[in-house]
Amino acid sequence: MSDATLAPAAGKPPKRAVMIYSRYERFWHWSQALLIFILTFSGFGLHGTHGLLPFEVAVNLHTTAALVLIALWAFTTFWHFTTGQWKQYLPQLSGLPAVIRFYAWGILTGAPHPYSKTLRRKQNALQSLAYLLFMVMIGPALWSSGIVYLTYPWWSHWAIGTIGLPAVAFIHTAAAFLMITFVVIHVYMTTTGKTVTHYVKTMITGYDSVELTAAEVAFLEEEKSDLLKK
Ligand code: HEM
Repeated sequence: MSDATLAPAAGKPPKRAVMIYSRYERFWHWSQALLIFILTFSGFGLHGTHGLLPFEVAVNLHTTAALVLIALWAFTTFWHFTTGQWKQYLPQLSGLPAVIRFYAWGILTGAPHPYSKTLRRKQNALQSLAYLLFMVMIGPALWSSGIVYLTYPWWSHWAIGTIGLPAVAFIHTAAAFLMITFVVIHVYMTTTGKTVTHYVKTMITGYDSVELTAAEVAFLEEEKSDLLKK
């Protein structure tokens, strides 16, 4: 049997290899990952955690990568709304307890994952909640405090003594720690697929095996055959 058609689990629709991450999604995912890595490295250089970069270089690298990331986020937000992909992030609270039970316990006992990808829903309930928190909390906390930090020369005369800047630096660094926590958990979760590298390969190639109803197969074959792996 080819990789493109997989035997159905009992009572479930058959799975097909379908392009679930478009070229743009893969581009913004990997460029965001690279920029966050550069920002973490240069930011913690500025913070004094390591001395691997001269201060001036760290400031320029951090500021440039931050502006590129803000532009990428702005464009990707626009893309999410124009393509309707934002709906993928609506949290589905009903499925959440089963997914949490799986990651807390079932994963250790070899239980099957309680969630299967479908064409309409690429993420499980816990994933959408985590990505939503990332997009509405961690990301905005970083870029808003970062912009306030960046524009300090413009508002420094309003700061009471030296209170202003350390407070902004504190909020920005706290948000940076939340970002690192998110990234560590996210990277761990990517190793929990069928094989350790399954999810990473999906985000590189764009293809994953997805349960498809007969109507969806017919629609894809007729209208979007380029999305089906041959
Ligand atoms: C997304 C937009 C971001 C903007 C606009 C931004 C902006 C800034 C600015 C202006 C500074 C101060 C640089 C200086 O001292 O001249 C700074 C410091 C820092 N940034 Fe960012 N940043 C962003 C994202 C991030 C991210 C994603 C991380 C890491 C996950 C991060 C971690 C840090 C750290 C740790 C510091 C040092 C804080 C301190 O000790 O003062 N930043 N950032």
